[in-house]
Amino acid sequence: MGNKAESLVHKGSFWLPRSASTMSDNVDLLYNVVTWVSTLIFVTIVVVGIYFLVKYRRSSTNLKAEKHVVHNTALELSWTIIPLIILMGLFAWGYKDYLRLSIPPADAMVVNVTGKKWFWQFNYPREGKTVLNELVVPEGRAIKLVMTSEDVIHSFYVPNFRIKKDVVPNHYTTIWFEAKEAGIYNVFCTEYCGDGHSAMLATLKVLSQADYEKWLVEGDMAEDMPMDKLGEKLYASKACNTCHSIDGSAKVGPSWKGLFGKTRTLANGSSVVADENYIRESMTAPNAKVAQGFSPVMPTYAGVLKDKEITALIEYIKTLK
Ligand code: CUA
Repeated sequence: MGNKAESLVHKGSFWLPRSASTMSDNVDLLYNVVTWVSTLIFVTIVVVGIYFLVKYRRSSTNLKAEKHVVHNTALELSWTIIPLIILMGLFAWGYKDYLRLSIPPADAMVVNVTGKKWFWQFNYPREGKTVLNELVVPEGRAIKLVMTSEDVIHSFYVPNFRIKKDVVPNHYTTIWFEAKEAGIYNVFCTEYCGDGHSAMLATLKVLSQADYEKWLVEGDMAEDMPMDKLGEKLYASKACNTCHSIDGSAKVGPSWKGLFGKTRTLANGSSVVADENYIRESMTAPNAKVAQGFSPVMPTYAGVLKDKEITALIEYIKTLK
């Protein structure tokens, strides 16, 4: 991945972000045509309006209104029929693109997406792989996302691809794209879903076929990695960093800094020592013991984290003194 691709992440601009999918150029073209046709009509009406305002203003030589003009059939027909043709043309064009955007190609590769407060989970049904906050796909393939939510309504948005779709609980929605080239792109949640909404980000990596295959077989857990280092990696890759800081500042959840071994006051007034079992329970049954001053909003990580990963995260927390 070159620097050009890297630079797409977290870089905003006044203009539309770079168009990077096989459909996004069509979307932009139609968008620009609508914008410029509207601008042209707006300017024409305002200019003619101002001209008449000046020409027919009341003055000493123009006191009495002229005889009222009742009809001009040619003029009336033209200002009805010309806009009608323009609008029907835009409708047909938009409808054609809308159908192409709505119907994934039959040979598209399927990835399941789950939105959760506050992260994205990507599951590869064929390959049996689950990743958080990172969607990795091969280039030159149409990708179909089958999406649902475990809690509230989220919305999956890839600005560079001009695709956006709500992710709804108890229901599946689909969206598809094909990237024009390998690169790294931003994914945003674009439906307000609570405290962590603005941090509900994911990265979309489009890799060459060879790199993608390498990524598929690469293990989630490096076997010989020290536990605390593995925990540090999981802190980012499992999206713990959305809600928990490691510098002592409070985010949606309490900071991990200095957490281990401390006596923690709970929402119900009782207290507990933050040992291995307390931290483990906070991951698998987060609402059992909620820290004072925080809301019970954490989703359960039971089934998301393997035992070894929980232990690695605890080892990492121990290092944050
Ligand atoms: Cu999820 Cu906003």
